[in-house]
Amino acid sequence: MLAEKYRERIDQAFAKYPDKRSAVMPLLYIAQEEYGWISPDGIVEVAALCEMDPTQVRSIAGFYTMYSEHPKGKFWLQVCTDLPCALKGADEFHKQLKEYLGVREGETTNDGMFTVEHVMCLAACDKAPMLQCNFHYVENLDMDKMKALIDQWRSESNNKV
Ligand code: FES
Repeated sequence: MLAEKYRERIDQAFAKYPDKRSAVMPLLYIAQEEYGWISPDGIVEVAALCEMDPTQVRSIAGFYTMYSEHPKGKFWLQVCTDLPCALKGADEFHKQLKEYLGVREGETTNDGMFTVEHVMCLAACDKAPMLQCNFHYVENLDMDKMKALIDQWRSESNNKV
């Protein structure tokens, strides 16, 4: 349950706003972090915490692309393929990344580790090819660097189990 596990972060979010409903977006981030997506349970919990109707929370979550309405892999890789990045090889990088992981657009690897999607400009055009992994930027990529990162993330993840 979010309320118990993230009490301190939730209280910090509430403290920044004049009313609880204004904290709905930071609380949705917490829900996504906990469940890996904006699950129906997460929506109900956030709605209760923010004293809102779940339908309102669902509509907010559905409007913004940084909230996922479907389960994602542990590492959500969003590759920018917008024009400036495409001019620096992002399309080919995106294609090779999907081939390397054996997934199509939006799919998750069989082990549940990696989801690959393309997104529009992330405002790091001069660092292409780039992606964000769970909202952290990884820039100036090529497939050699990407393969090393994938190995590192798999290893770190396995060591936590
Ligand atoms: S076009 Fe890719 S970050 Fe701007």
